[in-house]
Amino acid sequence: MMMPQQSLNPINLAVNVAGVQAPNPFWLASAPPTNTAYQLLKAFEAGWGGAVWKTLTNNPIVNVSSRYGAWGLGKHKLIGLNNLELISEKSVAQNCAEIAQVKTEFPNHAVIASFMFETKQEWQEAVKACEQAGVDGFELNFGCPHGMCERGMGSTVGQNTALVEEITSWVKAVTRKPVFAKLTPNVTDIIPVGMAAQAGGADAVTLINTLNSVMGVDLQTLAPQPTVGGYSSHGGYSGLAVKPIALHMVSQLAMHPHFHLPISGVGGVGTWQDAAEFLALGASSVQVATAVMHRGFSIIKPMLSGLQAYLAEKRLASVSELSGISVSKLVAWEALDLNYQVKAEINAETCIGCNLCYTVCDDAAYQAIAPAPAGTIVPVILDEACVGCNLCSHVCPVTDCITMVNKTPASADVLPWMKHPKNPRHR
Ligand SMILES: Cc1cc2nc3c(=O)[nH]c(=O)nc-3n(C[C@H](O)[C@H](O)[C@H](O)COP(=O)(O)O)c2cc1C
Repeated sequence: MMMPQQSLNPINLAVNVAGVQAPNPFWLASAPPTNTAYQLLKAFEAGWGGAVWKTLTNNPIVNVSSRYGAWGLGKHKLIGLNNLELISEKSVAQNCAEIAQVKTEFPNHAVIASFMFETKQEWQEAVKACEQAGVDGFELNFGCPHGMCERGMGSTVGQNTALVEEITSWVKAVTRKPVFAKLTPNVTDIIPVGMAAQAGGADAVTLINTLNSVMGVDLQTLAPQPTVGGYSSHGGYSGLAVKPIALHMVSQLAMHPHFHLPISGVGGVGTWQDAAEFLALGASSVQVATAVMHRGFSIIKPMLSGLQAYLAEKRLASVSELSGISVSKLVAWEALDLNYQVKAEINAETCIGCNLCYTVCDDAAYQAIAPAPAGTIVPVILDEACVGCNLCSHVCPVTDCITMVNKTPASADVLPWMKHPKNPRHR
């Protein structure tokens, strides 16, 4: 998408998510960028609207070295990041002292304390300590997929609806500040977990935490990556590559008729466009970790101006007007119009004659493209065989050379195979 023009009077991006107020919806996710007061002061100075502090716990954490694995493609580094990292290595008291410093200097920015503990007493004591430090809310880490879950925390909780509900209610019992339950994507269905957080009294949910993953194997040493002295372990996957999974889970909860909590969307956000997509599919704020680990805090500048200009272009007065705007456009498969039909068209002016569209259609799709006739370089779309799958347009190396054109027949009877008995629009 093109960058929209900046409007003369930039739209106020302030948000209120379940009672947590922030100057904008761009928050740092609980991760290495939110480890210290030094980093948050720098981030807020740069323009970030809020931050979730790196997860606190009681028993000292020892991290492994090395701990990150990267998946890149050509020049694009860190499309996906895998980490074996645990949570904060500092004590609750040390973290709270730093949180207090940040809140003193930036009272209007959102600082949310993320934590995970083993006992009810520990969860409740930490609430008091963080409240004294001035936090604006709490995020319960039910998501870490390695290291902590083996000790009965993190995703072990997030995969057990009874524990999600119970621990949420422990925290809610001792605070009036907003409580966000941060959910793990390492479940087959996010709905029951979101519902459990809601039943436990959560004010909002955050999702997603990282996905279980093994990054790869060094084929020379045969050690899985990243290695710790020649060995590895499964880690948490994040970054651009996880965005579609995060969007799915956020929208699943947003479109559920009995789920009513605000959502802070996380997973692969790195641009204003990513953020706008999360907001459109039901998020009220977004959180960012890997993109900042890739490029630093300064990515916030174009995110702020881009979202402001986009809202102006769409004639939306606030972030909340964008929030959830596309949710009603996600429907059950059965509700899709089986009569709707697109067909591929190749722009003969821009086609470079690489024949990739012909190859993939012939080998891997519906044999609906014929090779270029003698004397031309442009393959031919066979309209009657084209089912409109989009594959040729996705593999074509020339931008906009292959477009999908609406050729829905006037009479549905022309294509009787399109009629599906489950289609509510079946004519
Ligand atoms: C190195 C690393 C450490 C993380 N540590 C935590 C943590 O301590 N607590 C937590 O709730 N999430 C943690 N996360 C998960 C992020 O907050 C976020 O949910 C996830 O990375 C997806 O967002 P992203 O694609 O913007 O990175 C960590 C992520 C990374 C990459």
